[in-house]
Amino acid sequence: MTTHWNRKDQHIHLAEMQYQNTSTNGLDGVRFVHQSFSEIKTEDVQLNTQLGSLSLDYPFFINAMTGGSEKAHVINQNLATIAKETNLAMAVGSVSVALKEPETAESFKIVRKTNPNGLIISNLGAHHSADNAKKAVDLLEANALQIHVNTPQELVMPEGDRDFTNWLNNIEEIVKSISVPVIVKEVGFGMSKETIQQLLDIGVDIIDVSGRGGTNFIHIENERRDHKEFDYLLNWGQTTAESLLEAHFYRKQADFIASGGIKNPLHMLAAFGLGAKAVGISGEFLHMILTKGNQVSIEQIESWKEELTFLMTMIGAKTIVDIEKKPIILSTDLTNWCSQRYIN
Ligand code: FNR
Repeated sequence: MTTHWNRKDQHIHLAEMQYQNTSTNGLDGVRFVHQSFSEIKTEDVQLNTQLGSLSLDYPFFINAMTGGSEKAHVINQNLATIAKETNLAMAVGSVSVALKEPETAESFKIVRKTNPNGLIISNLGAHHSADNAKKAVDLLEANALQIHVNTPQELVMPEGDRDFTNWLNNIEEIVKSISVPVIVKEVGFGMSKETIQQLLDIGVDIIDVSGRGGTNFIHIENERRDHKEFDYLLNWGQTTAESLLEAHFYRKQADFIASGGIKNPLHMLAAFGLGAKAVGISGEFLHMILTKGNQVSIEQIESWKEELTFLMTMIGAKTIVDIEKKPIILSTDLTNWCSQRYIN
């Protein structure tokens, strides 16, 4: 086994180990004002949503995780089966390894084989060229490409990148030359309005703010270090709620995805209340398939669709974009964030 095969399996193992962590993504600090007359019925509610030119039947999806090892192959096959049965979109983990070592490509291709007509999103890091981005799309006949930005993870990763000078240039080239929509995503450290402006300036119009409060890649990479030096850095980054507040002014210029610690339909509702058009879920789905298997996971997802419909009915929102028009109250932590960051 080569090092990166070990790394992929370690990521899966360590992500699952930290599942019980009690960190918060801030979405519990977003409360809808209850109204006694919702004046709609459940069958009025439509769960479909739009991310740029991508149409999703459901506003939550399986976010990027894995590929590149035997264990990852099995996980990808299970996730793809679930995506097919529930009609959720699905992103794979970084296909970088498959470009370097074609013998690992099958662990990604299985996703398209399992779900020939599904909405599948490929994934690469921002150090890659436009040529590689095209290969990443072709590998899966992908409907879209995620480019992940993950500086803290790379720096804490013993074998990670140390040079971040070309990321914006690379993304700009990729956006210009790729025929499918490009989504730029964080990996659990959140985004700022400055970052979002930089992405808008180079033509990115679908952004996953992927905030703190769920899977924590500083923790995961630190656990892989002999001396675990970075224990003090575990709270780095903006929570998912803070990141969506940072995105507030840019909602007309881009479609935002929320991810980071999404565990239930109320988190989804809160994210939509703050302007997200869709939510991505990784850690929770990983935990689900590892501990409950495919069938129970499918039932859980079907239940979530119904529960989200109920929550939307309760607040009188017929569509995902209606949700952000409903009155919300923010926690003092979140209002403090807004006032120091001049967001109102
Ligand atoms: C990830 N994530 C990730 N993201 C990415 O863009 N490329 C990748 O290869 C991976 N790999 C990966 C492996 C595992 C095991 C997990 C759990 C996650 C990050 C993921 O897409 C997401 O941004 C964060 O995990 C935050 O969301 P959750 O996990 O809190 O729902």
